[in-house]
Amino acid sequence: MSRSFPLVILLLTACEGPGGPGAADGGGPGVGLAPSPETPDLPLAGATVSQQRAFRAGDALFDQLFEAEDGLGPVYVQPSCAACHLRGGRGPGQTRRMAVISTSTGDPVELLPFGALVRPLVTAGAVTPVLPPDGGLPQGAALEVTNRLAAPVFGRAYLEAIADSEIERVAAEQALRADDIRGRVNRVSFVSQGTVDPRFPAHAPGETGLIGRFGVKARLATLDDVVADALQGDLGLTSALRPAELPNPDGLTDDLLPGVDLPDAQLAALVSYTRLLDVPRRPAPDPRGAALFDSVGCAVCHVPSLRTRVDWPTPQLAGIDAPVFTDLLLHDMGAELADGQEEHAAGPRDFRTAPLIGLRYLASYLHDGRASTLREAVLAHGGAGSEAAGTVQRFEALAAEDQDALLAFVGGL
Ligand code: HEC
Ligand code: HEC
Repeated sequence: MSRSFPLVILLLTACEGPGGPGAADGGGPGVGLAPSPETPDLPLAGATVSQQRAFRAGDALFDQLFEAEDGLGPVYVQPSCAACHLRGGRGPGQTRRMAVISTSTGDPVELLPFGALVRPLVTAGAVTPVLPPDGGLPQGAALEVTNRLAAPVFGRAYLEAIADSEIERVAAEQALRADDIRGRVNRVSFVSQGTVDPRFPAHAPGETGLIGRFGVKARLATLDDVVADALQGDLGLTSALRPAELPNPDGLTDDLLPGVDLPDAQLAALVSYTRLLDVPRRPAPDPRGAALFDSVGCAVCHVPSLRTRVDWPTPQLAGIDAPVFTDLLLHDMGAELADGQEEHAAGPRDFRTAPLIGLRYLASYLHDGRASTLREAVLAHGGAGSEAAGTVQRFEALAAEDQDALLAFVGGL
């Protein structure tokens, strides 16, 4: 198990990556996040020797500082996974996304030539980073640049194992509610190329129909896709699942390492790490806080547990009640949280219910890190038009010590 040694590398990654996280982020709220270096970073309980081996190999690659010789770039955001997910958590690095939106509706009105992700760093012959355009916007349009904090990686293995029927059941239950809470599934395509993963036999690559579970708007369905997407977008590393460099202003189609950058075995190791990283161990919950979480309605969206597939290949995750505190559904969170981004069925105001996992290891909350306390995070749910507005009103109507008990429960998850 990698304990003190990789921490040194991680801190170097965080502090000395080209440009450093500060330079890469370019300011805005949430910069200077101080994630806890104490995140346990452990494999699933009862991991077999071969699971532990796969976990360790993936963990080492997750911490690795990639260089131009490894295929980094030509345009990228950070040179390692750990730069944005220290010990599998959130931060210190983050991303920014941009959109040209209508000033009247807030909806995107035109596609940006190099995509929504700001990629501020260049290497391997590139000279022009991908930055928000300055000027040249159509009439009635404005540029919206939003911070997007890394979603933590710990516990994501549980999200992937949840049965589709469970997510659909919760959506159907919410559709019958008398209040405004109406979660929706984000159906996305399985973009992986090559062989179809036997875990997902019903869908061929490119076919729309898998339930999106990952990303703050649930835009990705499987951890293979998440890892390949992060490699390609955040690091500029191509892999078998995403073999092409993303479009960039210099028109470069390759980098210093000709062809696909990451060998299949390394891609598989990284995916294994994400499929084996456990939920950090939780303290015994205070029953009063848990009951209040339920009674004001947090648990309608942050569903404490969902059943996993009985045929899931990781035995520790098959047929269990996964303690994820999410419904994996999209909810309209109102105009104030809107970020101008559209991802499949998710519009600018829609977000996946954030899984409440390992919150005591996070330094700021919500997709852009605008909340630095749990109370601020809850109150930000209550903006005009948010599905959670009624829940926030019930929270605010609680006595101060009940509010504290509820938040203490959430902070221990
Ligand atoms: C520059 C910062 C950055 C880097 C580098 C980065 N990530 Fe991420 N990661 C993010 C952000 C931001 C999200 C949320 C993505 C979204 O909503 O589209 C995310 C999401 C994820 C998720 C899904 C979490 C969830 O709950 O949906 C996983 C898993 C993940 N990253 C793994 C990786 C791996 C593996 C690497 C290295 C190959 C990596 N990340 C590199 C910023 C980063
Ligand atoms: C209508 C569904 C809904 C209800 C009800 C709801 N939430 Fe959320 N919650 C969300 C969504 C969606 C997000 C992600 C929003 C974002 O990232 O901007 C979120 C995010 C959070 C976060 C931030 C987590 C992180 O990783 O940064 C916390 C904490 C949280 N909710 C706690 C609560 C509590 C406590 C309650 C009850 C008072 C509650 N929520 C009620 C949908 C809901």
